[in-house]
Amino acid sequence: MQSSCAEIQARVSDRVLEITINRPERKNALTMAMYSAMAELLDNAAKDAAIRVAIIAGAEGVFTSGNDLMDFLGGSASGADSPVWQFMAALYNFPKPVVAAVNGPAVGIGTTMLLHCDMAFAGRDAMFQMPFVNLGLCPEYASSFFLPRLAGHAKASELLLLGKKFGAEEAVELGICNAAVAAEEALVRARETAAELATKAPEAVRLTKQLLRQGIQQRGLECMREEGSHFQQRLSSAEFREAATAFMEKRPADFSSFE
Ligand code: COA
Repeated sequence: MQSSCAEIQARVSDRVLEITINRPERKNALTMAMYSAMAELLDNAAKDAAIRVAIIAGAEGVFTSGNDLMDFLGGSASGADSPVWQFMAALYNFPKPVVAAVNGPAVGIGTTMLLHCDMAFAGRDAMFQMPFVNLGLCPEYASSFFLPRLAGHAKASELLLLGKKFGAEEAVELGICNAAVAAEEALVRARETAAELATKAPEAVRLTKQLLRQGIQQRGLECMREEGSHFQQRLSSAEFREAATAFMEKRPADFSSFE
C-alpha cells in the first residue's frame, strides 16, 4: 500500500498496516497533504480484505505535535470537505482495530485521535496535551463528548479548559491508553497487539468493535460536527491569530486586551 505523501509512511506486513507520521523537523506536525494521505490509507485499508489491523505511530520519538499551526494561520480549512475532516472521518469509521504507539509529544489531535483508536500504548516519554483553549480554539474530534465520559466532568474540564500537559501514567488512568511502558517498548507492544488481533476471526473482531462503539458512534459524530463548525470559525478569530503568532515568535500569548 502506497502513501501519497513522503511524510506519511505506510508498510503492510502480515495483514497489519503500519502508518508512521514522519516529519521530525516540525515534531510531526500534520499538514493537509499528510491528513489526505492518512485518510486515503485508512479508506483503502477498510476495503482491503488483506488488512485486518492498523497501527498509527510517529517517527523519531514523537507522535505528533498536532495540526501544523502555519497551515492554520495560512487559512487552511478544517471544514467538512477538508483533508482534516477526511482523516477524522476515516479513523472514526474505520471498521477494523487501530492500535496506537505513542512516544514524545502527542498534542491536539495527537491526543484526541487516541479517543478513536481501539488500543494505545504510551512510552513513558509521552506527553499528552489538548491546548485548544490556550490557542484561542475549542475542542475537536468529539473530545468534548468522549473525554467527560472517560474521565468525568471535572478532569475533562481541567484538561480542556487549562490545556494541561499529562504523561503516560495519567493517560492510562484516564482510560486513553492501555499501558505505560518503557519508551522503546511502545511500538513493540503495539506491533505485538496488532499481530495478535490479526490472527483472530476477522468478522468477530469487526463486529465486536462495532458493538463496542454503536451506542456512542452517532452522538460522537454529531458532537464532531458541532465542534467542527465552531473550530472553523475560531481559526479566523483574533484570539487564535494572537496565540499562533505568539507560538511562532516563541513568546507567551497575550489575551489581556480581549473581551
Ligand atoms: N505546527 C507548526 N510547527 C510546529 C508545530 C506545529 N504544531 N509544533 C512544533 N513546530 C515547530 C516549531 O515551531 C519548531 O520550529 P523551529 O525549529 O523553526 O523553531 C520545531 O517544530 C521544533 O519544535 P520545538 O517547539 O522547538 O520542540 P520542543 O521539543 O521544544 O516542543 C512541542 C515540542 C510539540 C511540545 C511544541 O513544539 C509544541 O507545543 N508545539 C505546538 C503544538 C500545538 O499547539 N499544536 C496544535 C494543536 S491544535
